[in-house]
Amino acid sequence: MTSDTGQTPETHASKPGDARPIQSGLSADLQGQIIAPGDKSISHRSLIFGAMAHGTTTIHGLLEGADIISTLGAMQAFGAVIHKNPDGNWQVEGVGAKGFTTPDTVVDCGNAGTGVRLIMGAAAGYNLRATFTGDASLSSRPMARVLDPLSDMGVTYSATNGDRLPVEITSGGALTSIDYTPPHASAQVKSCLLLAGVNTDGLTIIRESKLTRDHTENMLEAFGVKVDRHTVGDGQVVKLRGPAALHGTHITVPGDPSSAAFPIVAALITPGSDIVIKNVMMNATRTGLFETLIEMGGFLRADNFKKSGGEMIADIHVKHSALNGITVPTSRAPSMIDEYPILAVAAAFAKGTTVMNGIGELRVKESDRIAATAALLRRNGVNVTERDDGMSVSFSASQSGTISGGGHVITHHDHRIAMSALVLGLRAETPISIDDGAMIATSFPTFFEMMSGLGANIGTNIDTPSAK
Ligand code: S3P
Repeated sequence: MTSDTGQTPETHASKPGDARPIQSGLSADLQGQIIAPGDKSISHRSLIFGAMAHGTTTIHGLLEGADIISTLGAMQAFGAVIHKNPDGNWQVEGVGAKGFTTPDTVVDCGNAGTGVRLIMGAAAGYNLRATFTGDASLSSRPMARVLDPLSDMGVTYSATNGDRLPVEITSGGALTSIDYTPPHASAQVKSCLLLAGVNTDGLTIIRESKLTRDHTENMLEAFGVKVDRHTVGDGQVVKLRGPAALHGTHITVPGDPSSAAFPIVAALITPGSDIVIKNVMMNATRTGLFETLIEMGGFLRADNFKKSGGEMIADIHVKHSALNGITVPTSRAPSMIDEYPILAVAAAFAKGTTVMNGIGELRVKESDRIAATAALLRRNGVNVTERDDGMSVSFSASQSGTISGGGHVITHHDHRIAMSALVLGLRAETPISIDDGAMIATSFPTFFEMMSGLGANIGTNIDTPSAK
């Protein structure tokens, strides 16, 4: 991450496990240019696919967030050799024909749902036994969505409280291929089963009723594996014939639209702001938030489109805008599934009401994100109604465009709740505090440096200017 705002950024490098209360308060206009951090989904996949492949994979722009470092450690535990080259690129020597082997230790996936679910699928295709653990947040998340279909393919497992981590899986490596319709729209489930299918004799078929992020399909093809895809309604049927060999390749990781979402919303709600976020991935399975913010009246313009590492990237120019509430189409949910907490923050400044439905999946993310978002808004003077599978947020700003703030937010170890609360604080008359910001490093290790560089008033010791 670089910041060329010309200001000296206040740095708050943090690491998980080192809980630190942080505040944000009323900020002047945000100005400057930043480069979006590497995409988390693509970074996980680069390491996992590279580890499974024959030969060498080089990765440029890997997100060096804590989630990715957990996946990196897991891939080493299964037998891949990984190091960082002097030029900053990462190099993965894949296991190839030898396959993954039983790790000597428990595989700790930290906070990463994508890591653990994809790695379970990848590991399932080999002859091994492995135990997976994670932090408190990951250990509360359901694993049945991958363990059930994997056991249909021939994997045996034992789990805590039915399907929670720690989970031990045992596989003989000769799995039975599956024709599966996931009950939830989930790229993690699709990806887990496709990775198991790579080493399974026969056709693995996944029938998605709603298209989810397609990075696994795109990247398997980049690693030389043929993947058939047919659109069916809002979804698709994906077919992969195994066994298939992955061959090492070069990956350039594009900027993460889910991380870009935080400075984008910060600029939209902060008067006078005018910022550019460079190198943001524009894959249509990920850009639902951008469409939504534009429909709400936000000034977001994508310039300098180019292809990088198999994906389109662009520079996103954002200016403070008068926003209007809308009803977000439920069909858009998979393409912005991680962005609802920060959309809810934008919605507090949008005239009328913003209605978000069909997002029950948010209840099983790093935290129950519907409950956590509603609580963070309510504590800071924003009107919100919570439903089983959605929420509505009403315009809550004063004449000076601020909300009351002053609330202390419980993040539940959830990076996106922490960042959403800190962005809301930029328009709060009284600063907003969060219980812990260390876990922001899972997905966005340079969040504090970058936001401070743009002019955001975020940190352990902030200024408290007046709203007027
Ligand atoms: C991801 C898929 C999504 C998303 C997560 C990353 C991926 O999860 O929330 O942050 O990289 O495949 P689900 O598959 O559970 O929707």
